[in-house]
Amino acid sequence: MSDVVIKVENLGKKYTIRHQNGAGDGLRHKLHDVATAPFRWLRNQKSGFSNLTSDPRPLASEEFWALKDVSFEVKQGEVVGIIGRNGAGKSTLLKILSRITEPTEGRVGIKGRVASLLEVGTGFHPELTGRENIFLNGAVLGMSREEIKRKFDEIIAFAEVEKFLDTPVKRYSSGMYVRLAFAVAAHLEPEILIVDEVLAVGDAAFQKKSLGKMGEVAREGRTVLFVSHNMNAVESLCTPALLLDRGQLLAQSTDVRAVITHYLNGTSGNGSKLSSWTNENNAFNHPTLQPLYFAVVNEMHQPLTAPVRNDTPLFVVIRADVRQLDPALNVGFALFNQDAELLLWSLTTDGPEDQWPKLKLGVVECCCALPRRFLNEGSYRLELIASLHCRDWFIRPGHNSPVIHFAIQGGLSDSPYWHFVRPGILAPEWKWQTTA
Ligand SMILES: Nc1ncnc2c1ncn2[C@@H]1O[C@H](COP(=O)(O)OP(=O)(O)OP(=O)(O)O)[C@@H](O)[C@H]1O
Ligand SMILES: [Mg+2]
Repeated sequence: MSDVVIKVENLGKKYTIRHQNGAGDGLRHKLHDVATAPFRWLRNQKSGFSNLTSDPRPLASEEFWALKDVSFEVKQGEVVGIIGRNGAGKSTLLKILSRITEPTEGRVGIKGRVASLLEVGTGFHPELTGRENIFLNGAVLGMSREEIKRKFDEIIAFAEVEKFLDTPVKRYSSGMYVRLAFAVAAHLEPEILIVDEVLAVGDAAFQKKSLGKMGEVAREGRTVLFVSHNMNAVESLCTPALLLDRGQLLAQSTDVRAVITHYLNGTSGNGSKLSSWTNENNAFNHPTLQPLYFAVVNEMHQPLTAPVRNDTPLFVVIRADVRQLDPALNVGFALFNQDAELLLWSLTTDGPEDQWPKLKLGVVECCCALPRRFLNEGSYRLELIASLHCRDWFIRPGHNSPVIHFAIQGGLSDSPYWHFVRPGILAPEWKWQTTA
């Protein structure tokens, strides 16, 4: 019992969201105002009262639980991975543990000094220089000036921001900012280190370095709570993992792989795994490309609704709005099996250049035929990929990319021996012949 350093009991956080009655109607209402009484509308804009005077509808408020009935314990020295979809409540949980926000109900007990690296913008004072922020953060953590000085050189060497030490951090790029913030949080010897998504901002070299540092912090016996959409990082670093889903704790286990599998194979909002994805939220709105539709379909172009035989012709369809042409532009998918193992990537640019599908500006649909008699029985997950080769990622597997699922059952072979799942990950039917 004594080695429990964080105890969370029945934690809940409620937000009250205010919106105009008749949601989605706001723009139409405003346009109507401009058209029918343009001078009044203009006057209101100038006086800054446009919202108060031009929209007669009352404000409605809605209660929303970002976290509900969450209970767990963390032991000294554990590296806890917290995973879940966008909006699952991960950052809200970290903010409560870092005492940035208060819970609505439940209790949190924490033993030890906490350093947290939440989203860009917290922890540092924008007007202060990098140097001043290091001392400020150290002081907040209860360290003496001498202690901070001893750590100072290590921090700036890790963050690689020597040249900008005396520049106010508001002038830093987001990558520099996060590098320094991470270096401070990881080196100032907190007993508990809380890190939210830091890896999403840094470049590949920094990601590797910060993962290594978190491993080091953990080996020193400190406790780490780590939120990430990067499943490889969670699997390699974390001892237990927690899965949050719509504010609730869906799974927690020291079998991190099992929790990740649970998440990746998880059900969609309506309780079933979908084999098509449509960009309903207007997400991934990148200036070069925006994905619109991603699906596994049959010959009739219908997304699958049930498991299919291995010999069924299947196609992966990706529809996207191409906004800027670039020779390096590609789309594709990553294919995972039910144990969350990556089987392969397939991209539009895999073959010789003269055979790449021609992308043009506007809505483009790319289609890839999956080979028949290739996959074994089981369920599969596809994650969308879109990038400029070696230059820019728009949508990257393991980083909250759109996900679709399908399952193979039966039809593995016409051999009298193989009707059911075969040994091995794949079940290809290759040609055999005698040579003598
Ligand atoms: N201050 C706030 N007021 C109202 N709603 C909020 C507030 N902060 C968060 N929420 C809502 O609470 C829910 C949980 O948000 P949270 O930021 O914890 O999600 P998350 O799991 O960190 O997601 P992501 O993976 O996108 O970072 C979301 O629906 C979010 O819109
Ligand atoms: Mg978050």
